[in-house]
Amino acid sequence: MSETRNRASHRAMLAVVALAATALAAPLLAGQKLGEVQGTRTPDEIYAKTCGYCHGRNVGPIILGRALPADTVKHIVRHGQNGMPAFRPTEVTPAELDALAMWVEKSAARKQEHGY
Ligand code: HEC
Repeated sequence: MSETRNRASHRAMLAVVALAATALAAPLLAGQKLGEVQGTRTPDEIYAKTCGYCHGRNVGPIILGRALPADTVKHIVRHGQNGMPAFRPTEVTPAELDALAMWVEKSAARKQEHGY
C-alpha cells in the first residue's frame, strides 16, 4: 500500500471515530444521561428492549406466563438478583415498573421464548 493511501485510510478511520464520539456525546450534551428514560414506555416495549434481552433468550429464566407476583417482580427489578442487574428509577420509572410488574404477572407464555 502506498504512503498516501495509508494516510488517506487513516484519516477516514479518524473521521469514523470522531463521528461515533459525537453520536455518543449528543445525549450527554443535551443534559441527559445515557440510558435515561424519556417519557413513558409501555410494558411491551420495556420487555422487548430491556428484559427480553436476557429473559426468553437462555440468559435469564422465562418470566412470562408464570404468574410471578407483581411485588416480587418489582423487588427483583430494583434490587437485582445474582446474574440480574438492578434497574434504577432513571432507567425504568416507578410508573413504568408498576405497569410492567402487573403486565408480567398477568402475561401469557410465549412459544418463541426459550430458557429455563
Ligand atoms: C442482563 C440480563 C437480564 C436482564 C436485562 C433482566 N434480567 Fe431478570 N434475571 C436475569 C437472571 C440471570 C435471573 C436469574 C437470577 C437468579 O439466578 O437468581 C433473573 C431473574 C429475574 C426474575 C426472577 C425469576 C424467577 O424465576 O424467580 C424476575 C421476576 C426478573 N428477572 C424480571 C426482570 C425484568 C422485569 C426485567 C426487565 C426490566 C429483567 N428481569 C431484566 C437476567 C436479566
